[in-house]
Amino acid sequence: MKITKICCIGAGYVGGPTMAVIAQKCPDITVTVVDINQARIDAWNGEDLDKLPVYEPGLDKVVAEARGRNLFFSTDVNKAIDEAQMVFISVNTPTKTYGEGKGMAADLKWVELCARQIAAASTSDKIVVEKSTLPVRTAQAVKDILDNTGGGRKFQILSNPEFLAEGTAVEDLLAPDRVLIGGDPGPEGQEAIEALVSVYAAWVPRERILTTNIWSSELSKLTANAFLAQRVSSINAISELCEQTGADVTEVARAIGADSRIGPKFLKASVGFGGSCFQKDILNMVYISRSYGLTEVADYWEQVIKMNDHQKARFAKNIIKSLYNTVNGKKITFLGWAFKKDTNDTRESAAIYVADHLINEQAQITVYDPKVSEEKIYADLEYLNTRSPEEIRRLVKVVYDPYEACLDAHAVAILTEWDEFVDYDWQRIYEAMLKPAKVFDGRNILPHEELRTMASAYSPSERQYSNY
Ligand code: NAD
Ligand code: UDX
Repeated sequence: MKITKICCIGAGYVGGPTMAVIAQKCPDITVTVVDINQARIDAWNGEDLDKLPVYEPGLDKVVAEARGRNLFFSTDVNKAIDEAQMVFISVNTPTKTYGEGKGMAADLKWVELCARQIAAASTSDKIVVEKSTLPVRTAQAVKDILDNTGGGRKFQILSNPEFLAEGTAVEDLLAPDRVLIGGDPGPEGQEAIEALVSVYAAWVPRERILTTNIWSSELSKLTANAFLAQRVSSINAISELCEQTGADVTEVARAIGADSRIGPKFLKASVGFGGSCFQKDILNMVYISRSYGLTEVADYWEQVIKMNDHQKARFAKNIIKSLYNTVNGKKITFLGWAFKKDTNDTRESAAIYVADHLINEQAQITVYDPKVSEEKIYADLEYLNTRSPEEIRRLVKVVYDPYEACLDAHAVAILTEWDEFVDYDWQRIYEAMLKPAKVFDGRNILPHEELRTMASAYSPSERQYSNY
């Protein structure tokens, strides 16, 4: 079957960029991305390409090329579903915040709503593609709903998890390590798989398009994120050992990464991993494992999260300890709020938790991030539900100039590895800060030796990624 019309439900960090690239690479396919969030759709349709709802390097150009040609953004969900031969589900699947599985399981409310809407809106057969990250065996639930409420239409379910990382979404989509497609082993399932393979084959070499059974595909996505996060927690665990022993975690990472069996990527020690995926997907895997009675499996993966929580708390405690165990009323400047560079996404960003810890101690936090707005920063802190909006606004200020942010600060903490931070005039920042001036480099990106030479207040007892 040749696909000429695609609908994608969910115009977020995955749906938007993924569909923009499919539309760019397949001009003969009409791609309509739908969402219930009118403001988001308006922003995708907006004239100003600097104000797309998702900030990703290179995305503006892809959207400019395809939008209005064969890429459309709309809130008319039913119409787009009905017109398409293939419907992608790319809605959010966050950790449940209520009821059974609270704090662990994935909330599949939005996925189920999509399945019901696809069933209700379809007047012809469809291929339904799970693009969202889902617990293994979700396709069974989607199929049950479609088969029981779809008015006799035939639905083939495919799993096609997305492996893009934020900040590099466009390059990841243009040249993916692999595309994974899982489907039913019967002839109709294989035909559906082939239809989706043909879409990607417009720009992805065939040998990079892997096909599997549907359960393997669903589980591979959770597994990939668990393995990646585990590497970060592993190197962060070593960073604590380094700080006690005088070893340098960057050197250790380089040394072990040179072993081709280990490899150099994902070995950057940090203030802790963030983002909308790692924690939620591991928690989900832990929940699934426990539900099958696999206690050791669940405990093993849960430790990756515990290590990450420890790393965030440890970073905050390091700051407090270095500032003579009291930060009450002291100005501490955060450079960066996003969970990584080159994105405006702040979901689960380590900065939120470090700030919360320091606000508990009544520190005065000033934040500068090149892409994150004041409203978003306040919303992130309010979402924690740990204090009133008034108290947050009293203790946290947001400024849009990095030098102003650092003026009269007792300490500067790097929370995100934005490239521009490295290029700042650190002599100027040092002079503008209160003394002794402390920098806590939660991303290990600054030239520490240079800063130490610059700063007379450097204390030799604090050797690792913290101070100058
Ligand atoms: P997101 O919150 O940015 O976007 C989801 C969108 O779906 C929202 O705009 C929401 O309004 C919309 N939506 C929800 N229910 C809807 C409905 N019934 N009808 C129409 N629209 C609806 O989420 P995201 O970051 O794009 O993630 C989507 C999925 O992709 C998740 O399962 C996530 O785990 C997975 N994923 C995310 C990333 C990432 O880097 N963000 C990478 C790979 C996979
Ligand atoms: C991740 C997966 O990489 C991607 O394949 C999946 O599709 C979605 O989840 P993302 O969350 O966008 O992508 O970013 P990623 O680059 O994986 O970084 C996640 C977090 O780990 C960030 O906070 C990042 O700063 C941190 N990290 C990453 C480290 O602390 N050290 C590293 O070496 C790598």
